[in-house]
Amino acid sequence: MLLSAVAQAQPNIALIKYWGKRDAALNLPATDSLSLTLDSLWTRTRVRFEPGLTQDVLEFNGGANAAMQPRVAACLDWIRALAGSTLRARVQTRNNFPTAAGLASSASGFAALVVAATQALGLALNPAELSVWARRCSGSAARSIFGGICTLENGREADGSDTCARALLGADAWPLEVVVAVTSLERKAVSSGTGMQSGTRTSPYYAAWVDTAHGDLQRAKAAVASRDFAALAHVSEHNCLKMHAVMMTSEPALIYWTGATLATLQRVRALRERDGRHVFFTVDAGPQVKAVCLPEDADSVASALRAVPGVQTILRSRLGAGARCIADSTEI
Ligand code: PMV
Repeated sequence: MLLSAVAQAQPNIALIKYWGKRDAALNLPATDSLSLTLDSLWTRTRVRFEPGLTQDVLEFNGGANAAMQPRVAACLDWIRALAGSTLRARVQTRNNFPTAAGLASSASGFAALVVAATQALGLALNPAELSVWARRCSGSAARSIFGGICTLENGREADGSDTCARALLGADAWPLEVVVAVTSLERKAVSSGTGMQSGTRTSPYYAAWVDTAHGDLQRAKAAVASRDFAALAHVSEHNCLKMHAVMMTSEPALIYWTGATLATLQRVRALRERDGRHVFFTVDAGPQVKAVCLPEDADSVASALRAVPGVQTILRSRLGAGARCIADSTEI
């Protein structure tokens, strides 16, 4: 057993979203989701189990990260229990994109952590099993185990052992591109976990959100199967706005958008409805707008969104592969 491994995972962008838990202790989502795994944004993580350590040590982008430390240690505890190990680990991790600003850094972060830690402890888990463990750490992380387009549907088992992501389409099967309009680089004030809890308890729209989620997923799956961009655009924007309606009608209200977020949404709609571009938007627990488009329209979408007042930078990505181990010599 090597006791050390390096993994890379990319964030995923949900088109049908997970917001709310049916079991908080097991971290089981209340709604089915469907997402695109990106290519050019990544998290790289080295996990090294060291006999001399008395506690897990986390180094994030070259420094300490007290906020993430307990979640990382909890994830490592589950993996240690599975492997029958008591060794503590040194975890070095780096993102090549802004963290905790609604760009799904917890998805790529926990997917990379689970892949590296299980490999380092000699556990040969298949992608479904890796996805179950990643889901326990962060619901969206279950999906970054897979590349291309995948779903995370509720399983039948009460313990969540079959609630894992499943591949729907490989990264090359339908070339889509994602243009991210970054409207703020500040860390978000309310985490998705806290936001979900308050939405579940207080939003009058939460029940309707949960009731309609599975139907949205079925429509999105059918659109993906037939490569029907217009149908996917329709159900994705509808699902995104329903989730933000739950957020905005929670008490206290959760408004992740900035003025530039709204201006970008309007621009995306005009690009599609007035200019005939193949593009639609989605927004997660943060102010960034992700515009999903066909590759032939990506340049014009990127330059149009760059010109929206308040947009700070544009990131672009095609669809990419799932989480995997990479060379142990990779610098973090
Ligand atoms: O699993 P978390 O805590 O990263 O929550 C994900 C919440 C959303 O990004 C808003 C939706 C989703 O399905 O990714």
